[in-house]
Amino acid sequence: MSVDIRTEADIQAINLLRIERTAQRILEITGNSSKELSILITDDKGIHTINLSWFDRDRPTNVISFQMDEPDIMGDIAVSWQRAKREAEEGITSIDNRLTELLIHGMVHLMGYDHELGKQDALLMRQKEEHIKKELFRRNIMADLCVNVDHVATIREARGGVEPDPVVAAGVVELAGADGVVVHLREDRRHIQDRDVRLIREIVQTRLTLEMAATPEMLKIATEIGPDIVTLVPERRQEITTEGGLDVAGLIKSTSEAVATLHDAGIPVSLFVDPEPEQIEASAKAGADCIEIHTGRYAEAKGELQDQEYEQIVDMAQLASGLGLRVHAGHGLNYQNVSRLASLSEIVEFSIGHAIISRSVFAGLEQAVREMNRLIKGF
Ligand code: PXP
Repeated sequence: MSVDIRTEADIQAINLLRIERTAQRILEITGNSSKELSILITDDKGIHTINLSWFDRDRPTNVISFQMDEPDIMGDIAVSWQRAKREAEEGITSIDNRLTELLIHGMVHLMGYDHELGKQDALLMRQKEEHIKKELFRRNIMADLCVNVDHVATIREARGGVEPDPVVAAGVVELAGADGVVVHLREDRRHIQDRDVRLIREIVQTRLTLEMAATPEMLKIATEIGPDIVTLVPERRQEITTEGGLDVAGLIKSTSEAVATLHDAGIPVSLFVDPEPEQIEASAKAGADCIEIHTGRYAEAKGELQDQEYEQIVDMAQLASGLGLRVHAGHGLNYQNVSRLASLSEIVEFSIGHAIISRSVFAGLEQAVREMNRLIKGF
């Protein structure tokens, strides 16, 4: 599946990533996942020119579709963002919603429906559009961001005191718009403590992901605390952070048992795995609900090697999705390398910690110095 978006306008107001993911979802819903779709976002002048030169209609419009006679190509859709914006204001909706409606309309034309052929055709086309709209509503368009607050606890543990408190961090990341909070309760308790998980469970209003090793102690804690989801990770005491994915293929029996124990407690399970086919196939066999693709190799690679790692993640996300697994991704993602993965429609959730907590030091340091100076000097 590939969606190519071109723009012919200065379109600060438009979220191109959202359009790309919406188009990918529409291709999936209509059974056209393997086809290519091109989208041109233009303005009134641009769409007027297209309307005149291709259809001899001397006026602007909102959307125009061009069917292609090639099996692998869905076609081209041109949309005027200015017209979409006006129509959004008239219909009291957002420009994102109006662009989605226009994209659906354009796609349904590409599928051969045409409201201009008569009343019955117009009805059929409207029904098809409504069906796609409903399906889109059911599925998340944009990936969720779940923020790992372990490193707030790492700073606290460096002094052995009470601040900064990861429980407060959990509340702040939710206030800032995170879709979930992640904590890793390690066997050695080097950062997050049992008390943190219990309190965060109580205050989190979005959802709580508990990362843990599949040990009897952790399984007991998870079933008592009841996180919204558990991500099973491998753990080695000497490692600085989780270094590799879980070897589900090599540990299929014990992993399946851990998944079953958590399922019995009503907790969905994600398995943190390297982007390798045998690990993903084994994850499906083990009964997992999700996989979290270990993005460490991608994050560390440079240039062409990073391109190769990216392609591997694309293939593995598609494989997992085809096996009915939800796809999450995480580890080493930062402000430079996340965008490329964010355009993949199979990835529905990102788990990011270190980069966000690191940036918060600088994003918040100036304010922290000012506040201390105010106490000391009065200004
Ligand atoms: N996902 C898993 C399973 C992890 O173990 C970690 C690291 O704690 C992350 C995501 C987050 O990685 P980072 O801190 O590099 O963003």
